[in-house]
Formats: sequence, C-alpha cells, structure tokens
Amino acid sequence: MLNKGHDYFHRVRFRQLSNAFACVSHLTIRERIKLFELGQHGKLIAEIGSYVGASACCFGAALLENKDGKIFCIDTWNNDSMTEGYRDTWAEFCLNTKKYSKFIVPVRGISVQVANEVCQYTSKLDLLFIDGNHSYEGVKSDWETYKKFLFPGSLVVFHDYGWADGVQRVIQEDVLANVSFTDRLPNMWWGTINKNP
Ligand SMILES: C[S@@+](CC[C@H](N)C(=O)[O-])C[C@H]1O[C@@H](n2cnc3c(N)ncnc32)[C@H](O)[C@@H]1O
Repeated sequence: MLNKGHDYFHRVRFRQLSNAFACVSHLTIRERIKLFELGQHGKLIAEIGSYVGASACCFGAALLENKDGKIFCIDTWNNDSMTEGYRDTWAEFCLNTKKYSKFIVPVRGISVQVANEVCQYTSKLDLLFIDGNHSYEGVKSDWETYKKFLFPGSLVVFHDYGWADGVQRVIQEDVLANVSFTDRLPNMWWGTINKNP
C-alpha cells in the first residue's frame, strides 16, 4: 500500500501523466502508471469503460511518446452500472482527454453492440483494457466479443480484479488458457496473449 509520500514522488516522477492524475477515477496512482507503461507496448489500444478519461489519458500519454497510434474508447458515457447512477459524462470525458484527441476514437454505445464499429477501423489490437460492466455476465460478454481482436503478443488488462468476482471468474474460466506472463496489482490484472483466443 502506498502512502501519500510515495504518491507525491510518483506524481513528480511521471509528470507526463499530470492529465491522467487530474481525472476523477477509482484507478490508483500505481494503476495509472502501469497503464501508461503497458500502453507503450503497442499502437492500437481499446478500452471498454472510459468514464471521464483517466485511463484514456494514461494511454494517450503513452502514444504521445511514440507519436502514433489509436485508442478506441468504448462507453455509453451514461454512467452505466456505476454506483453514482445515471449521468452524462461525455462532455467531461472530452474536456479531460483533449490533449490526446488526435489519438482517440470514441465509440459510443453498449460495448457488445458497437464492436462492429471498432472493426471498421482495425481487426487487431495491441492492448485491450476491460473496465466496463463488472458483473460476471458483463465481463464475459466483453471478453467473448472483443477477444477476436487479440493475437499472440497482445496484452489484455482487467480492472477491479481485486474485488469483482465476475472479473476473477472470467479470467479463471476463459482467459488464463490464452495467456502467459501474467502479473497484477492488488486490483488490476494483465497477461500476454500466447495463442489466438
Ligand atoms: C469504472 S468506469 C471506467 C473507469 C475508467 N476506465 C477510468 O479510467 O476511470 C465504467 C464505465 O463503463 C461504462 N459502461 C458500463 N457498462 C457498459 C457497457 N455495457 N457498455 C459500454 N459502457 C459501459 C460506464 O458508463 C462507465 O463510464
């Protein structure tokens, strides 16, 4: 567990993440830094669940270092399955991610219904971040719908691994057989795809 002193150290050390650190999010400072590091792995990134843009800013900062790439941000921007209830978060997302707008392709809708829209841009992803509906059914349908974009060497990242039974169960039942080099923080899990899922 990091204390405030460590958080301050990381905020200074990773100045390029100042936009990501400024966004309201459940993501911890360490998770934001890890998403930034994992985002440098490739150029084509999709995230399911963007909320007001913290994770998109982490990936945006990574792509800014490479000067190239796309982030497919998939969300209803209606705060679906969030405890705070219905709210239109679109304007806040746009404002917070403005610095990275040249990389961002917003895909607005229910994740499993808009995968075809992502297909219009790419058939492959270097990194898939799943952080939308955390129920077992929600995580499973996101994995089943988007795994076709992954290939050996891609990364898959799940948030809320620490507390969400659905996330843990989908990883155990469906993801582990397709990955190697897995790692985790207390509430985030990732692995490298080792065969076409
Ligand atoms: C936990 S938040 C995402 C947090 C974000 N990754 C961040 O960096 O702070 C979950 C988001 O997923 C969206 N969401 C939930 N279920 C969804 C679904 N089935 N399709 C699309 N978006 C969904 C919600 O609207 C919400 O913005």
